[in-house]
Amino acid sequence: MAVLMGGPSAEREVSLSSGRECANALREAGYEVVEVDCGPDLAARLAEIKPDVAFNALHGRWGEDGCVQGLLEWLRIPYTHSGVLASALAMDKQKAKEVYVAAGLPVVQSRLASREEVEARHVLPPPYVVKPNNEGSSVGVYIVHPGSNAPRLAETMPEVVMVETYAPGREMTVAVMGDRALCVTDILTEGWYDYTAKYSTGGSRHVLPAQVPQQIADACMDYALRAHVALGCRGVSRTDFRWDEARGLAGLILLETNTQPGMTPTSLAPEQAAYCGISFPELCRWMVEDASC
Ligand code: DAL
Ligand code: MG
Repeated sequence: MAVLMGGPSAEREVSLSSGRECANALREAGYEVVEVDCGPDLAARLAEIKPDVAFNALHGRWGEDGCVQGLLEWLRIPYTHSGVLASALAMDKQKAKEVYVAAGLPVVQSRLASREEVEARHVLPPPYVVKPNNEGSSVGVYIVHPGSNAPRLAETMPEVVMVETYAPGREMTVAVMGDRALCVTDILTEGWYDYTAKYSTGGSRHVLPAQVPQQIADACMDYALRAHVALGCRGVSRTDFRWDEARGLAGLILLETNTQPGMTPTSLAPEQAAYCGISFPELCRWMVEDASC
């Protein structure tokens, strides 16, 4: 078994953490594991290792967007999580919205804009969010509040970014494992759920199952499953929501689906699996058994 991790994306460190956790769990579950920190020699490394399965613990560009999935298809190595198309679609936040809308799932307005346009004027009425169209873990996310100027973007931001109406409310998430939505987690943070809150111990508090009206919990589970199916995901995915309680069901917004959800010690999908009685090694084993190409 090759556990693919690291890579050149902005979520490299997160992936190294996910990869190490999964490699240890797979060893515990009895597999022979080779940890692969992915670089330009990946195809050659895989040809040398000849794994029965590639466990994909990559996050972000190249590892979560269909690229590595295409390489694994080409090499005929069964791999975990979603295939090429679902990975590419889910990672392109704007394209994924078209799929959600067609599936009748609630999203907020957004569009792509050039850096130049974003820095010159408010592309949408504030409050709005500017973010890379294809990154994860809240890397490069700007929240533009009413009364503030158009943002100046860091050099590291891409030429084209996504601008999205700010969806207020509680941060909630649902992991899907095959054809089963696991649970709703309510994520409590001091400020917003940024990179530090996501990956520091104690950076956020997770309440599961979320203490929300049954109608809202049911809707989250239903939407997560429908997003997973509409995108054509495989294995485990995790769909994130915002819920503005003052607006009831109308205040529930689907933010995005992650086809390679974090598997770090502070991550949400393994926590939901544990709530359902599935240990971390059992979850990893299930992913391996579900792998295909
Ligand atoms: N993008 C990170 C890894 C997540 O969604 O968990
Ligand atoms: Mg994400």
